[in-house]
Amino acid sequence: MEQTTRGNWGSQMGFILAAAGSAIGLGNIWRYPYITGQNGGAAFVLLYLACVLVIALPVLIAELALGRRTTMNPVGAFQALTTSKYWPFVGYLGVITGVGILSFYLVVAGWTLGYIVKELSGTIGSFGDFVQDPISEIGYFAAFLGLTVFVVLGGVEKGIERWSKFLMPALLILLLCLIGYNLTLEGASKGIEFYLNPDFSKINGSTFLAALGQAFFSLSLGMGTMITYGSYLPKKENIPVGAVAVALSDTAIAFLAGLMIFPALFSVGLEPSQGPALVFNVLPSVFATMPGGQFIGIAFFILLAIAALTSTVSLLEVPVAFLVDQKKWSRKKAVWIISGATFLLGLPSALAQGTSDFFSTLTLFGQTGFLDIMSFVFSDLSLPIGGFFIAIFVGWVWGARHASEEILLGTPPAFSRLMAGWGFLIRFVCPAMILLVLIAKLFS
Ligand code: PHE
Repeated sequence: MEQTTRGNWGSQMGFILAAAGSAIGLGNIWRYPYITGQNGGAAFVLLYLACVLVIALPVLIAELALGRRTTMNPVGAFQALTTSKYWPFVGYLGVITGVGILSFYLVVAGWTLGYIVKELSGTIGSFGDFVQDPISEIGYFAAFLGLTVFVVLGGVEKGIERWSKFLMPALLILLLCLIGYNLTLEGASKGIEFYLNPDFSKINGSTFLAALGQAFFSLSLGMGTMITYGSYLPKKENIPVGAVAVALSDTAIAFLAGLMIFPALFSVGLEPSQGPALVFNVLPSVFATMPGGQFIGIAFFILLAIAALTSTVSLLEVPVAFLVDQKKWSRKKAVWIISGATFLLGLPSALAQGTSDFFSTLTLFGQTGFLDIMSFVFSDLSLPIGGFFIAIFVGWVWGARHASEEILLGTPPAFSRLMAGWGFLIRFVCPAMILLVLIAKLFS
């Protein structure tokens, strides 16, 4: 069946770039470094890499196969393959999670806009002062929401794909240059030590969940983004190759972001465990010491904003595809209603860096501040729980054998030998590991 009415990716490369565009974003450059910093550095990095390889990659393949097979949004995909009333709730959870993540993600994306303006004007000031002003906090947040709406209203090909094409190479080159510079800073070796020399005594039950949640967040898994993106994927395209390309590029960018941040962090003598402010505190002070640093700062925050945009677009796309397919809403109406809800839900996060005492000091699940709580609930809990059910569904309900048939379409014959390994991971290893990690968190 040709999937012409819903739109399709133009090519395998176009799909990989768009999926990598969804995966690569603030998760790699903002969230990964600060979560690594909060969890003690190198040992966490190893756990993270293990989670990507053993749990996230098999789930990524499963989501893409589920989407391509059903050509549906996450709710419709479950309905298409089972008559049970309950499975579509995994899709509903994904739709809600999309709105939840988008609400705080846009706040941080707004900070990148603010920093473009700051770098342009040449007066950086402290991050603490920047986030105190409710008008600019909310203004930048709303502006980024506006940008996202603008792209999503353009539809699949014109909107998402075009933006993804030139971003990654530029971001990669800038990262490499910044790493080269930061490694020459005085005290950089302490950062390398923290980032690359594991101290396993820093690992506990919470560290595992932080690593797993970050793997799901960074690869846009567990809420149906990749089901939705897979639904635009033609049958002749190679799912495993696409999945490996996406996972590799996403992980490489995160790893490099760490290599850029930690040497600089230790050289300017800041705390690795300071949380969401980390990147915004460290980088501008490094740019300030560089020759031509202002231009590098401008370029960096522009690229970061574009990387964030290709991710916010994919976050908004999940609830929108749901309303368009399942509720027969027009695309326009769906986009505006979801955006409105996201805006309201994001306000407390926008005020949670000191503007509102209540939202800044609210403590829940060991997280302080509304934004940190949202990030924990929707990334560390909701995504792995969604991933657990997706693995069970694909492995046992749809069945690893049927799923393998879908995955093998578009691959050379040799791939069939790999499917037994994937089947074992998706049926046993992924669900068991996710469950263990969630239980370990309960007892930590
Ligand atoms: N993966 C994106 C990032 O790292 C965030 C995201 C999560 C996007 C879940 C879509 C779905 O920035």
